[in-house]
Amino acid sequence: MTKRVALVTGGTGGIGTAICRALVDAGFRVVAGYNSGGNHDKAKEWQEEQRKDGYEIDVAYGDVTDAESCAACVETVKELTGGSVDVLVNNAGITRDGMFKKMSWEQWNEVLSANLDSMFHMTRLVINPMLDKGFGRIINISSVNAQKGQFGQCNYSAAKAGIHGFTKALAQEVAAKGITVNTVSPGYIMTPMVAKIAEEVQQKICSTIPVGRFGTPEEIARAIAFIADESSGYITGSDLSINGGLHMS
Ligand code: CAA
Ligand code: NAP
Repeated sequence: MTKRVALVTGGTGGIGTAICRALVDAGFRVVAGYNSGGNHDKAKEWQEEQRKDGYEIDVAYGDVTDAESCAACVETVKELTGGSVDVLVNNAGITRDGMFKKMSWEQWNEVLSANLDSMFHMTRLVINPMLDKGFGRIINISSVNAQKGQFGQCNYSAAKAGIHGFTKALAQEVAAKGITVNTVSPGYIMTPMVAKIAEEVQQKICSTIPVGRFGTPEEIARAIAFIADESSGYITGSDLSINGGLHMS
């Protein structure tokens, strides 16, 4: 049987890499979207590292803030796999932290663009082929900091909270056509994004997590593979928290 095709934006990043690998393990043909400021060699190196570990994962360039670049990315996926995207994981994202009283428009706009506008650009490109096929899984990566808000993240909390509104609205529009739309909201996961928080701030945050540690990318990835599964068709419009107890809603 032909494998279902999964596209993971930010696929070469911390959580993205674990998602790609979990989806390969689950039997998908996986393509990792990357940006890297157009550094294609870096993506090829990443691909080679995965191959050494036994993971065959294609890579496709695309800037999720740019509609044309997203279209080119989805076109590359088509060329590489010969099929349309069955599973889209909207995982690419950035932070530009700072207190709101000092926040610039650029800090606001960059975060809204990469974390929220990206949902429109990428999902808009795959939704009609999914509707035609009568199958699809859209999985959007939000954050615990959307659910609870976070000091220093007015931009990020707003963007990530917007994601779940998008998820719930779209889930209703496509539910009858075999397409599920869900959000996964990770807590603090040790990746380059968290590593760049000042050490003493990290320690303070960690001390508030009931499980007593930051999470691992693999602890997020297993949930994505679960939701992407053919047999998870009754899970839609949900927001799955994976945060070590940091926030319980
Ligand atoms: N609650 C209340 N007050 C706080 C606070 C908090 N959580 N954090 C800092 N403050 C206070 C400080 O005590 C300080 O008070 P005084 O002026 O009275 O001394 C004041 O706010 C300024 O704090 P800083 O000196 O830290 O200010 P800064 O401008 O250097 O840094 C910051 C501000 C960038 C927001 C920094 O505090 C920070 O990095 N915080 C962490 C933000 C965070 O959690 N980001 C998550 C990134 S990872 C991610 O986003 C992934 C995900 O989804 C989970
Ligand atoms: P990461 O390692 O920094 O990965 C972020 C990924 O997003 C990178 O692969 C990056 O690609 C990609 N990206 C950023 N801007 C892009 C753009 N304009 N176009 C295309 N790709 C772009 O961080 P991470 O922790 O794995 O984050 C993955 C997702 O999880 C993000 O949405 C993040 O907000 C969310 N999240 C993270 C945590 C956490 O604690 N780590 C918690 C909750 C939610 P390039 O490197 O190729 O540019």
